[in-house]
Amino acid sequence: MRSTISKYVTAFAVLASSVSFAQAADVEVLHWWTSGGEAAALNVLKKDLEEQGIGWQDMPVAGGGGTQAMTVLRARVTSGNAPTAVQMLGFDITDWAKEGALANLNEVASAEGWDKVVPEALQKFSKYDGQWVAAPVNVHSTNWVWANKKILDDLGIAQPTTWDELVAAMEKVKESGKTAVAHGGQPWQDATIFDAVVMATGGPEFYQKAFIDLDKEALGSDTMKEAFDRMTVIRSFVDDNFSGRDWNLASAMVINDEAAFQFMGDWAKGEFLKAGKKPDEDFLCFRFPGTQKQVTFNSDQFAMFKQGDKPSEEQKALAKAIMSPSFQSAFNVVKGSVPARTDVPDTDFDACGKKGMKDLAAASESGNLFGSMAHGHANPASVKNAMYDVITAQFNGEYDSETAVQELVSAVELAQ
Ligand code: GAL
Repeated sequence: MRSTISKYVTAFAVLASSVSFAQAADVEVLHWWTSGGEAAALNVLKKDLEEQGIGWQDMPVAGGGGTQAMTVLRARVTSGNAPTAVQMLGFDITDWAKEGALANLNEVASAEGWDKVVPEALQKFSKYDGQWVAAPVNVHSTNWVWANKKILDDLGIAQPTTWDELVAAMEKVKESGKTAVAHGGQPWQDATIFDAVVMATGGPEFYQKAFIDLDKEALGSDTMKEAFDRMTVIRSFVDDNFSGRDWNLASAMVINDEAAFQFMGDWAKGEFLKAGKKPDEDFLCFRFPGTQKQVTFNSDQFAMFKQGDKPSEEQKALAKAIMSPSFQSAFNVVKGSVPARTDVPDTDFDACGKKGMKDLAAASESGNLFGSMAHGHANPASVKNAMYDVITAQFNGEYDSETAVQELVSAVELAQ
């Protein structure tokens, strides 16, 4: 009871303050950055805005990868109560822009020269119909391995560079009684591993054909079957309690010397840093074996929902703050990602961050940069979710690899 009363009191105080301090220069931000590392990074943004006198109304929706956040967003918009700003990925931005829901940020984009510093691969999602509709805050990539250095050293395991070496390493860890693969059985996490496994198994052209072009032959191929077979192998190296576990709890298993590897995007690094761990001393970061030259990327962007004809001053200020070079450095150092802008120096980044920036530039240069299927950068949500269903069913043994391949072909066809 008391807590209910105090909630009302707090709510009233918040309301009163926003009324008395004239048209509350607040932004309401819907996001899914609720893990320790994510929240630490978000704080960098909150503080940055605070310094400019812009208040932050937090609208967190827990759930890695943003699936739940996107459901809440749909409900909010449907009820005519869209948040001011929303964290979004790839094709979700395009989908909302198509509906005419996003504010046009061209004025701030041209004043700040975004065209010159945001790479094409991101502009594809930040712009719709020639208009800027989102401000990219980072570039993450999904084909990483996060490894416990002590476990590998103790067992005499060298950093695996091929699938066979990875399997041998996982076997060694399992025999030692530790967990080889820290994993959380949630569809988006299964799909995150599949991103890397498909790239490693089929190579970049196959990834492009299957996941981006949705080529039926590639989706239904023996190569895809082999990728599913490899998922079964990985499944045999996770612990008994993997089902439903959040990704950051899986990271914690590697951090706490319980597990050797996590196959996860570089937001995992945020958890290691938050726990006081150091790259190369406590943990290793390397590309999933067989994908050393490739980068499967996703970029968190902030889209502003229309509040009137033009974006509000607060929305413009938020967009500008997100794109400032010093902010992009400070934020991404904590988040585990790399800057969305190409002109931010790597000076403040640790070894993994520096590698991330180098890999990204090299992959972009050599035609090895691909939108992540698992994180909404290969196809719209309808196709992504159809793929999730099949990948998760196969990972949990509901389909054998042969059936999974057939299901993938028909699910993707239906979803288009
Ligand atoms: C990704 C997002 C990251 C990270 C991750 C886990 O989709 O791009 O910023 O938050 O989900 O929640």
